[in-house]
Amino acid sequence: MRMVDIIAKKRDGHDLTTEEIQFLVTGYTDGSIPDYQMSAWAMAVLLRGMTPRETGDLTLAMAASGEQLDLSSLPGIKVDKHSTGGVGDKTTLVVAPLVAAAGIPVAKMSGRGLGYSGGTIDKLESFSGFQVERSREQFLRQVQEIGVSVIGQSGNLTPADKKLYALRDVTATVEAVPLIASSIMSKKIAAGADAILLDVKVGSGAFMKTLEQAETLATAMVQIGKQVGRKTVAVISDMDQPLGYAVGNALEVQEAIETLAGRGPRDLTELALSIGAHMLVLGELVTDVEEGRARLEEIIRTGQAVEKLAQMVEAQGGSREDVYDPSRLPSASLSLEIKAAQDGYIAAIDAETVGHASVLLGAGRLTKEMPIDLAVGIVLAKKRGEKVRAGEVLATIYANDDHLLQQAARELAGAYTYSAEAAMDQPLIYKTIV
Ligand code: URA
Repeated sequence: MRMVDIIAKKRDGHDLTTEEIQFLVTGYTDGSIPDYQMSAWAMAVLLRGMTPRETGDLTLAMAASGEQLDLSSLPGIKVDKHSTGGVGDKTTLVVAPLVAAAGIPVAKMSGRGLGYSGGTIDKLESFSGFQVERSREQFLRQVQEIGVSVIGQSGNLTPADKKLYALRDVTATVEAVPLIASSIMSKKIAAGADAILLDVKVGSGAFMKTLEQAETLATAMVQIGKQVGRKTVAVISDMDQPLGYAVGNALEVQEAIETLAGRGPRDLTELALSIGAHMLVLGELVTDVEEGRARLEEIIRTGQAVEKLAQMVEAQGGSREDVYDPSRLPSASLSLEIKAAQDGYIAAIDAETVGHASVLLGAGRLTKEMPIDLAVGIVLAKKRGEKVRAGEVLATIYANDDHLLQQAARELAGAYTYSAEAAMDQPLIYKTIV
C-alpha cells in the first residue's frame, strides 16, 4: 500500500477501505508517513468528506493508536461525558458526583482549559491538595470504592489524534467535520467509554458558532457511536452567554457546589439534570429521562450529591471541609462592580468576550504552558433577558492585579447589548440527537 495512492483516491472522491485507513493511521503514528502526506490527505478529507463507515474506521484506528484504558473491572456500563467547551461550563463538576451518587461508575479523564474555554482539571485544583495525577491502580480503586474519580489526561492515549490535531491546526483543516468527530470520539473510546453523552455547545462562546454546524457535528458523532457499538447521545446546548453566573476556576467550583446542594442557577441545574438523566438511561439504571431526572432531583434534595463530591475531593488528597465551606477556596484580593450603561433589557452577553475578560484576569491560559490564577474571574449578576436600570450592577470582577482588573472591566463592558423590549427567550437545549 502507498500513501500517495490513498491521497489520490480520497482526492478523487472515492471511499477508503478499512485497511487503507488503518494503514495511514498506523504509518502516521510510527512516523513512516510524513506530515506533508498526512496534510494532503486531511485537505482531501476536508474537501471530499468521509462516509460514516470511513469515519468509524478512523475513530477506531486512532483509539487503537496508543494505550487504551481497561475499565472492565468496574461494574456496569461506563458512561462518559464530553463537552465541546465553553465559558463558565462547570457541568462536569456537577454531573460527575451526581450520576455517581445514582450508581453510574464515573472514571473520567478531563482536560485543562485553553483560550477562553475552561477545563475541569484546573477547576478541581481549586481544592487545596487535590491530586489530578493518579496511577491507573489508584484511579480504578477509587471508582470501585466511592464510585467516582476525575483525573487529568495521562498516559499515551490516542497519539495519532495528538499528531493529527496539531497538523490540522497549521494546515487549515481543523474544520473538517469527520476529523473533528473522530478526534473527539477516539479519545472517549480510548478512555474506556461503553456509552457516551456529548454536550455540543453552540453560540459565541463555543467552537461551533451556528446551530447548523453544531447539529452536523453532533450527528456525525452519534453516527460514529452507532458504527462502533458505543451508544451515544448528543445534546446541543446554548453557549451564546456564559453558563450559570460564575466564570473562573474557584468561583465556578463554588457555583457547582451550590448546584449540587440544590441552590444553583436555573440554566446550570437544568443542563446538569438533563445530561445526568441521559447518562442514567445510557447506563441502563432507568428506562427514561423523566425517571432519571426524578432520581437525580432526589439525590440533590437529600444531600447525597454534595456528599459524593466531598468523598471524591477527600479521596484525591483535598479536604472535604472545602466542599461544605467553600469560603475556604482561593479568593481574590480585589473586586469591582460593573454597572449597566443604560436602562433596558439585556439582549445579549457575548460569551466569548466574557471568556476573554476572564483570561485577561488570569483565569485562563493562552498557551498550554501558562500558569493560571485559580481565584480570579467574573460573577454575573444578571443574565440575558433581564431588565436593568442604568447604574445597576451587571457583574462583579475578582482580580489580584489592579491593572488587569481595569483592562478586564473595559473588555467586559463590551459584552453587553441592550434592547428596549424583552427579547424572545433562547432555548438552553436546542436539540437532543440519539
Ligand atoms: N476538539 C477535539 O478534541 N478535536 C478536534 O478536532 C476539535 C475539537
